[in-house]
Amino acid sequence: MRIILVGWGVVGQSFAKIIVHRKKELAKKYGFRPRIVAIVDKQGAAINPKGLDLEKMVALKKEKGTVAASKQYGHPGMSALDVIESVEAEAMVEVSPTNIETAEPGLSYIKNAFRTGKHVVTTNKGPLALALPALTELADYNNVFLRFSGTVGAGTPVLEFAKNCLQGDKLLSIKGILNGTTNYILTEMDEKHITFDQALKAAQELGFAEADPTMDVDGYDAAAKLVIMANWIMDKKVTIKDVKIRGIRDVSSKTIEAASKKGYTIKLIGSIGETIKVEPTQISKHDPLAVDGALNAVTFVSESAGEQTIVGLGAGGVETASAVLRDMLDIKQNIANRIIT
Ligand SMILES: NC(=O)c1ccc[n+]([C@@H]2O[C@H](COP(=O)([O-])OP(=O)(O)OC[C@H]3O[C@@H](n4cnc5c(N)ncnc54)[C@H](OP(=O)(O)O)[C@@H]3O)[C@@H](O)[C@H]2O)c1
Repeated sequence: MRIILVGWGVVGQSFAKIIVHRKKELAKKYGFRPRIVAIVDKQGAAINPKGLDLEKMVALKKEKGTVAASKQYGHPGMSALDVIESVEAEAMVEVSPTNIETAEPGLSYIKNAFRTGKHVVTTNKGPLALALPALTELADYNNVFLRFSGTVGAGTPVLEFAKNCLQGDKLLSIKGILNGTTNYILTEMDEKHITFDQALKAAQELGFAEADPTMDVDGYDAAAKLVIMANWIMDKKVTIKDVKIRGIRDVSSKTIEAASKKGYTIKLIGSIGETIKVEPTQISKHDPLAVDGALNAVTFVSESAGEQTIVGLGAGGVETASAVLRDMLDIKQNIANRIIT
């Protein structure tokens, strides 16, 4: 399978490391022999139809700041759109930065990949939060697959659990902690009796929170994930505009302390039921969702199987890259099934 990799940051390079280190096993066990024919970062691209040497590309990025610096294969200034248009490949892995206001540039990359007949795996929530119903239709129209399991729960298979393991059952509602940064902050406030500002500062120093924490602490990241789940798992045609969003900035240490004394804790809970919302919520410390630190946890309530909760890390380069690999293998399997039928 020839793959174009758009984005050569934490997730892109982690994916490359996995497929290099597990090359033999992936070929033997799954018949998966990926060939990365192009890599794109902000400054340009590296292209080799025979397959790029990924270890050299990691070293080059570290040394020169861009894959476009390759003497043999580099194309400084070449845009991802030009690469998608001109390089022959079966699939694109889209791991460029998330923008949930415009969804760009990821949205255009995905549409162009579809238009040129490429399957897409993405971990970018922006295009999905703003246009998932349209994108799934466009993928069908172009007879290609779109997969995005890394967008919710990173390596924790939240989407697959609901879609595949609960297949046939009727899902009634979903609720969960979908953002590790805010969970870390709330846990610190609870355990160390510190204020929101102090906990945010600690999270930033440890690399759990961005310098601009808006996406996380104001609830937008969790809301984007809810939109993806509502569309993909519950067949609701919604976008982020349909989500009621309240973040954790106004959660005080007093509120947390008062809840704690009664055996409760405050968590940023996203839920899909009659309405779709994200808000700080008081839950029992014995609730399966009451996980600590940067963990994510999602409870599914279904008609026959009842309540199940899946817990795991919701971020991390290698964790998210494992979801990209899972999605690629799923696409490969789907292509094989299509050939058989
Ligand atoms: N890291 C995680 O734990 C995690 C978990 C779940 C989902 N995600 C999502 O996965 C995506 C990638 O995350 P990441 O952590 O790998 O981010 P990252 O380290 O910031 O890497 C982003 C990459 O995209 C490249 N890029 C920036 N603008 C571009 C453009 N206009 N066209 C093409 N490439 C462009 C960057 O180029 P330069 O290298 O030149 O700057 C960089 O290589 C994001 O959408 C993120 O939200 C990440």
